[in-house]
Amino acid sequence: MIFGRVKPLDQILATAEKKSLHRSLGAFQLTMLGIGAVIGTGIFVLTATAAQKAGPGMMLSFVVAGLVCAFAALCYSELASMVPVAGSAYTYSYAVMGELLAWLVGWALILEYALGASAVAVGWSGHMVGLLDSLGLHLPHALTVGPKIEWGILKGGEVGGFLNLPAVVITALVTWLLVIGTKESATVNAVLVAIKVAALTLFVIVTVPMISGHVPNFHPFVPRGWGNPFGGSGTGVLGAAASIFFAYVGFDAVSTAAEETKNPQRNVPIGLIASLAICTIFYLLVAGGVIGSYGAQPLMDPTTGKFFVEGSPELYASAACHAAHAPMVCSKEALAYIGREVSSPIVGQLIGLAATIALPSVVLLMMFGQTRIFFVMARDGLLPNKLSAVHPKYRTPWIVTIVTGTVVAICAAFLPVGTLADYSNSGTLFAFACVSLGVMILRVTDKSRHRPFRTPLLWVIAPLSIFGCVVLFISLNRASQMVFFVWTVIGLIFYFLYGYRKSHVGRGIIDVVDDPAMMPETARPLE
Ligand code: ALA
Repeated sequence: MIFGRVKPLDQILATAEKKSLHRSLGAFQLTMLGIGAVIGTGIFVLTATAAQKAGPGMMLSFVVAGLVCAFAALCYSELASMVPVAGSAYTYSYAVMGELLAWLVGWALILEYALGASAVAVGWSGHMVGLLDSLGLHLPHALTVGPKIEWGILKGGEVGGFLNLPAVVITALVTWLLVIGTKESATVNAVLVAIKVAALTLFVIVTVPMISGHVPNFHPFVPRGWGNPFGGSGTGVLGAAASIFFAYVGFDAVSTAAEETKNPQRNVPIGLIASLAICTIFYLLVAGGVIGSYGAQPLMDPTTGKFFVEGSPELYASAACHAAHAPMVCSKEALAYIGREVSSPIVGQLIGLAATIALPSVVLLMMFGQTRIFFVMARDGLLPNKLSAVHPKYRTPWIVTIVTGTVVAICAAFLPVGTLADYSNSGTLFAFACVSLGVMILRVTDKSRHRPFRTPLLWVIAPLSIFGCVVLFISLNRASQMVFFVWTVIGLIFYFLYGYRKSHVGRGIIDVVDDPAMMPETARPLE
């Protein structure tokens, strides 16, 4: 019965038509939007996590994660061009696979966006602290990292840590900006993209020429092997790919902007694929530069003879991490650190500064994405309507924004960046797999509908995308998988207690008219 609760595509499209947003974005702006949302904590920070998991083999991890994203992006593009409306994977799933799966996808997207925002906030904190340190301003250690946590398989934080205050502060600031209705303008986005690209280019120019003099740095290439996806340790090339997947997340910002894109049929797929391709090339060059200039071998615990767990309290407390010229895997601002070590302090400073300036916009985009998903789910009756209440003065969904900000701040305060990124990935991988499945289902159930963009070789690409998502999901560590399952069970309970009864589709409410004053803030990241 609940599988029959499908929101008809024609109805979704009619609602979108009614809103008649100004379509202003072209392929170039979309590509910029994609790069703006994608480049962030993943490459600037999680490169250290990937190195501890896979050593130089992280280059393969970048390729694997990039390929899975490319397959998923091709599937996303078909749905995004057919259903160019807000809500991303959630809306697509509602149209194709029904309410229950749509709810689960929307619920998983909370992990993607909210915990993703927390991860980027923690990544920002690492850069801010590094930058202040280099200026001789030392914040108390207890206020820069979360506490050491060991709850069964959930482990994290650092000895002597209490609260990641900078991460809380940046989250509060971004929440406030969203409440007063700040939108990242296309111009600001373009400037931030330029800053990030310039920082990565500087890194590549400085480090890549050093590769030829340091070829031994690439040996052993896969010190921890490919990893056993069923082992639950989340290590090796596949384990690193599952984590570094975070570095590619965000390209779906392009598909969610479909509603305000000129000729979305042509431009959305171009924006998705181009931003992904550009990021992949950068990531591979950066990873090569990291290994070739400084080395990226994982660190072993001399007392146990085993590799440290990435980002663990033991790793950070180890003697090697406190030595001068500590291995890169100890750094919370990997690229800035290597810049300082292999070139000059100024190079490191510039890279750190670029990340400090640019990362808050990734937090903003992710939190914005979260409020939009909440908004669309509330509009469909699956979440309490109050959540989408509009602020009388700022005309923004302020309640949902403050709820989101509070959750993001609490998670950022107490959990390490790698853990947050892995949790976020678990939700994203589920959503991507569902979208890929949805495209295939729709090809069978709605053959005749016009498809402005058709995924090439769909019957190969979509299964590959699903297979890739499954492999990456099971390559995550056990804790992240558990978090996903527990989160899903909570979601199911909530659905059957609330959404199932309140759903507009379930109650036969055909059309929902949005508060027009609300739309600019909820459905339009760019102007
Ligand atoms: N891909 C984005 C980042 O790495 C989420 O920060």
